[in-house]
Amino acid sequence: MIILAIESSCDETAAAVIKNGKVLSNIVSSQTEHSAFGGVIPEIASRAHLRMISTVVNQALSKSRLTLADIEAIAVTTSPGLAGALLVGANFAKGLALRLNIPLIPVNHIEGHLYSGFLVSETIEFPFISLVVSGGHTSLFYVTSFHEYSILGSTRDDAAGEAFDKTSKMLGLGYPGGPIMDKLAKNGNPSAYIFPRAMMQKDSLQFSYSGLKTAVRVFLQHNYPEGDFHDNIHNICASVQEAIIEPLVKKSFNALKQMKVNTLVVAGGVSANSRLRSELERLAQKKSVKLFIPDIQYCIDNAAMIGSLAEKKITKQKTSDHYMSYNITVNSSALRSPKK
Ligand code: KG4
Ligand code: ZN
Repeated sequence: MIILAIESSCDETAAAVIKNGKVLSNIVSSQTEHSAFGGVIPEIASRAHLRMISTVVNQALSKSRLTLADIEAIAVTTSPGLAGALLVGANFAKGLALRLNIPLIPVNHIEGHLYSGFLVSETIEFPFISLVVSGGHTSLFYVTSFHEYSILGSTRDDAAGEAFDKTSKMLGLGYPGGPIMDKLAKNGNPSAYIFPRAMMQKDSLQFSYSGLKTAVRVFLQHNYPEGDFHDNIHNICASVQEAIIEPLVKKSFNALKQMKVNTLVVAGGVSANSRLRSELERLAQKKSVKLFIPDIQYCIDNAAMIGSLAEKKITKQKTSDHYMSYNITVNSSALRSPKK
């Protein structure tokens, strides 16, 4: 089956072509318009999607060496995300599907991340634990099939990526903060300062990052009232990064232990973090855990994960009739209630 997938839930306009599980093209256009604001401005995001969407879809088609006439179904992210941003992708996909008279498959963005490990390996076995960690989400899932999973724990407030972005803004480093701090942290000492790690009770699989930005603000006011912290920026970044990463690593391995499984899949933009990757790899080796982290191009928001999941849902569930309706809606808030 050949699927054209479209993703526009936040600040990446993305399109991909998937053929029988293989990614033929995966185009991502990241909006740079938000960097001056230290966060995504929804109205700017919608307008930028509108500007880019047909270019990105055309690029995905031409890279795949296919034409619209070859496409058999269209998959599109319909939730969660910024309402205006989702509407651009959803309406574009709907128009195209109607014109081509082919099925339109609505896909949940978080579910896209959740199953993105299958883009690197078809051999991942259920059940597994999935850590989805991005600018909007930080959750641990227990996944038993392509249509069944449950949430084991989530952030109570800020997501891990948001913690990177907000502390980066405070440090005057720019947006998105994660990759900038990751790079600076490489030359710093992660134990130079101890910032708080929240919800670290033994069995808790919940996260909380809102206290971290307050702790960083108080640290800066107390130690650098003149704002002259830049000579120490490497140590500060490494220490803040450690406070974000450590709960992610510890709780992922606690979840594996609690649920008695030994496969961990990690996805979402923050899984590009080099310290998170190396700590997970070190522990996975030590504890004989099978670890799958997609390539960076599939960790950040992308349409390949949307198309790949749509294809799996159709072929493995054999429920394509369910997806034949053009009556889709977008839903900006959170994850739909997972099936138990
Ligand atoms: O999955 P994603 O592209 O979009 C959302 O759905 O949020 O994730 C974006 C988030 C941003 O908060 C960004 O700062 C973070 O991922 N990020 C990183 C790194 N690369 C991206 N965080 C830490 N280290 C990185 N190398
Ligand atoms: Zn995402």
